[in-house]
Amino acid sequence: MLTGMSQWLTLSRAAHLLGISRVALQKRIREGELRSFDGMVTAEDVQLAWPELNLDDSGSFEKTRAIREDAFARRLRERVLPTQEALAQRLFAQGQELAELQRTLTRYHTLFESLHARLGATPAPTAEELGRLLDEGLAQALAAPAPGHDMAALDAMLRVMSAHVTVKPSGREFFVEGSETLLKAALRAGLAPSYGCGNGVCGLCKARVVSGEARAVSPSEYRFSAAEKAQNHVLMCACTALSSDLVLEVLEAGAPEDIPEQRVVAKVRKVEALNGEVLRLHLQTPRSNRLRFLAGQRVTLGARAGLAGGSDLHAEYPVASCPCDDRNLIFHLCRSDRRAASADFSQAALDGRIKVGDDVSVWGPWGSFVLEKDSVRPLVFIAIDDGFAPVNSLIEHAIAVDAAESISLYWASSQPGGQYLPNQCRAWNEALDEFSYLPLAVDDLPAALAANAALATSDIYLAGAAERVEPLASVLRAAGVPPQQLHIEAF
Ligand code: FES
Repeated sequence: MLTGMSQWLTLSRAAHLLGISRVALQKRIREGELRSFDGMVTAEDVQLAWPELNLDDSGSFEKTRAIREDAFARRLRERVLPTQEALAQRLFAQGQELAELQRTLTRYHTLFESLHARLGATPAPTAEELGRLLDEGLAQALAAPAPGHDMAALDAMLRVMSAHVTVKPSGREFFVEGSETLLKAALRAGLAPSYGCGNGVCGLCKARVVSGEARAVSPSEYRFSAAEKAQNHVLMCACTALSSDLVLEVLEAGAPEDIPEQRVVAKVRKVEALNGEVLRLHLQTPRSNRLRFLAGQRVTLGARAGLAGGSDLHAEYPVASCPCDDRNLIFHLCRSDRRAASADFSQAALDGRIKVGDDVSVWGPWGSFVLEKDSVRPLVFIAIDDGFAPVNSLIEHAIAVDAAESISLYWASSQPGGQYLPNQCRAWNEALDEFSYLPLAVDDLPAALAANAALATSDIYLAGAAERVEPLASVLRAAGVPPQQLHIEAF
């Protein structure tokens, strides 16, 4: 039960304040270094567990300073008062004052409680003892906070910058930064809300405000019925959070079959050679017609590719990017693709017959190689050659969702040095505490996996050419990996 005058924080908010993953926070709780009650922690306990937390070093203070300096410079330039930035800065300052007042109030409350308890006890306290208790309590109440160790102040400030949204019925949470839309923030956090146009027209993104307040930030054509208005419905693609805490009832995709088939015409933005074998194709959809998909799914691409006679090239590819950016779709095209249609398509891109500015039709999404919903088991990704494409999408999504205990990536190549995005994998490895990356040759994969003691209790995602994936899947089953924990994408 949550009692007393402590400031309580959800795990998500505490992790957000500390700039760490929720998983890292949960690990400290499991290891007994931090108390939690009903999924909440106190600001005081968090400060004790992270004594090194220094507000002066936090990015938020830097952001505040930058805003203040920018606002001051503009004020001088434009001779107008006040700018939005100056107002934001004042709000930050008030947040700090509020946090300070809250802390002082908490201390007075503690003092009154202890005096009350002592007065009711026998033997009755002497005047001398009461005077001493009062002096000590007041000294504590008025004591300055240890410099730079004030979680509550940081929370008060961040509440101005970013709103916390809880989604019902799933219980998922996300933060809305600045005035970004609820839809953009939800996708960035790895949620899969229902939506269509992304532009205020179709109404598919409507959500019900259960508590808190949302406000429109862009115009919309969709008209709510009287009943929807009465029930506080808003469009996630057109609204942002106004209150610092918002609870929304949202229709979310729970499985691939919840995502409708779509057809989108996208433009080629970039064609980039990653090595002699693999190209990265970057498509961008129109603003009002984006592709909704789940991480790990495939689509069919179609292009004219400069062909005479009107025949198009069509080929199926996994989307290598994260659904959190539904306008910018990335594909890894491999010259030696085993599938004839994909080899032709890839060759056309390699030859320059598919080039920047061309239209490419995208339809789908297909497939069920997606992260298992609500699982918190460790994640093991095994990519063989260009099987890395769907794995890349899954890893970006898993990082956004921040639910897995740990992430291991084995990227096996049939050619020496065939890991065509090594820097990206190394960057994950360096930036994330619970991430491990092992590049290796395909033949070394069985031995490397055998050394992983957590395989049977992990969710395993295996992608690559069918002739390599299937024997490896048999090895994993024989090693005791339950079938429901083994997810395979073979092409
Ligand atoms: S996605 Fe169409 S109105 Fe929001």
